[in-house]
Amino acid sequence: MFNAFANDVADGRAKADAACALCHGALGIATLPNAPNLAGQQAIYLSEQLRNYRSGKRQNEVMNMIAKPLSDADIANLSAWFSAVKVTVETH
Ligand code: HEC
Repeated sequence: MFNAFANDVADGRAKADAACALCHGALGIATLPNAPNLAGQQAIYLSEQLRNYRSGKRQNEVMNMIAKPLSDADIANLSAWFSAVKVTVETH
């Protein structure tokens, strides 16, 4: 992992701990039944959703409010962090 990316992930993690963990969980596995898991999701998808919440293109009262103050760098770093969480799946 090269440094610029590592820094983005660390910054994103710190921001997520403060602003997202309450609902989406410290590692991106949601703690609220109506909040989606973010762990392991593609960064490009997460960034697009956050930009859409910020602009109002995607409507959700809570996420519109949370995304409003985010800078492009915040969005990139938060997305880098949640997508860096490694998720494994199993079938029964
Ligand atoms: C108060 C609870 C709460 C907090 C805090 C919160 N979220 Fe959310 N988040 C939600 C809910 C509820 C949804 C589902 C909204 C919807 O239906 O569009 C959501 C949806 C999302 C989605 C869309 C996921 C998808 O699968 O499309 C992203 C991305 C996201 N949140 C990122 C964040 C980030 C990053 C933070 C911190 C900066 C954050 N959220 C903080 C409750 C929260």
